[in-house]
Amino acid sequence: MTRGATAEPKKYLVTGGAGYVGGVVAQHLLEAGHRVVVLDDLSTGHLAGVPAGAEFVEGRVQEAARLLDGTFAGVLHFAASSQVGESVEEPGKYWRNNAGGTLDLLEAMRGAGVPRLVFSSTAATYGEPRNVPISETAPTAPTSPYGASKLAVDHMIGGVCAAHGLAAVSLRYFNVAGAYRPVGGPDGPLLGERHDPESHLIPLVLQVALGRREAVSVFGDDYPTPDGTCVRDYIHVADLAEAHLLALEATSPGEHLVCNLGNGSGFSVREVIRTARAVTGHPIPERAAPRRAGDPAVLVASAELARRRLGWRPSRTELAGIVADAWEFARRQDGWKGPER
Ligand SMILES: NC(=O)c1ccc[n+]([C@@H]2O[C@H](COP(=O)([O-])OP(=O)(O)OC[C@H]3O[C@@H](n4cnc5c(N)ncnc54)[C@H](O)[C@@H]3O)[C@@H](O)[C@H]2O)c1
Repeated sequence: MTRGATAEPKKYLVTGGAGYVGGVVAQHLLEAGHRVVVLDDLSTGHLAGVPAGAEFVEGRVQEAARLLDGTFAGVLHFAASSQVGESVEEPGKYWRNNAGGTLDLLEAMRGAGVPRLVFSSTAATYGEPRNVPISETAPTAPTSPYGASKLAVDHMIGGVCAAHGLAAVSLRYFNVAGAYRPVGGPDGPLLGERHDPESHLIPLVLQVALGRREAVSVFGDDYPTPDGTCVRDYIHVADLAEAHLLALEATSPGEHLVCNLGNGSGFSVREVIRTARAVTGHPIPERAAPRRAGDPAVLVASAELARRRLGWRPSRTELAGIVADAWEFARRQDGWKGPER
């Protein structure tokens, strides 16, 4: 058995395991000695993102009933549509895939008697925060159909736990970043972020360093922050993955825990660009752009509850290290022009 090996190997379904976060978590489950079945429709994911050792089933979460049976100890549910801007243009897609898809999954789990769920929720459920750092008791007022659909799922899961005894955790991620090198050597494959279109700041900045984009847009530089640009909480994907393994053991039947996952410290857009310049040695030109609607000035998590309930402490909190890992992954992907269609 490998690092983090468990005494009792179990079998888990990972929906969305061909995507960025799901792939890294699936890899961590395998390294802990578990069996992993990945269910993904490859709508935004990539076969190359499914870790070696996982069984892959191409299909939709809406069809999970065909796959699930009593041999599964739990489901880790990452499959979703997750572009905030697209959700404003096409809200129906987000309600159907995120809320409708999860309802189908929950019913399939109940039918098969699968007792445990860990769900990818998001900081977007909070909307414009009144206080920072944001704790789980903060008001939820999402500013996009994406955030609203995720909040609806959090409520849906709470109801199913109360009514049918599911044990569940909703993990509200802040900004996930970085890449993960599976245990087994420095030359092994890296698992990282490749969304198309890309909307996350760190990979966008690195695309400029790779020469695939001329400049990075800075949306607003007149926010009430030290340098006028938005501040976000970046969490390394490997730290995030470790929290999922802890979450699998954190609740008892009937309980739904909602827990933020962030580092508890923020970095501005300009700090990220400066760090990427230092890591890549590229000048990375920036271009001023107007503020985007619904973009809060500061989003930083209180990670206190995760510390208390999951016993989780992030260990890869240096921005330079997060960017360096993302840079190594981005360079390896260079020449990759978009998903195979
Ligand atoms: N990346 C972040 O910073 C971040 C922040 C907050 C929350 N999240 C949430 O984490 C989860 C994973 O995010 P990601 O960045 O890895 O996204 P991703 O797009 O890389 O992964 C999502 C995966 O789900 C699959 N998928 C989508 N709908 C499906 C369906 N109906 N049936 C089967 N497969 C389906 C896609 O093909 C893809 O492989 C999402 O639920 C997202 O909302 C991500």
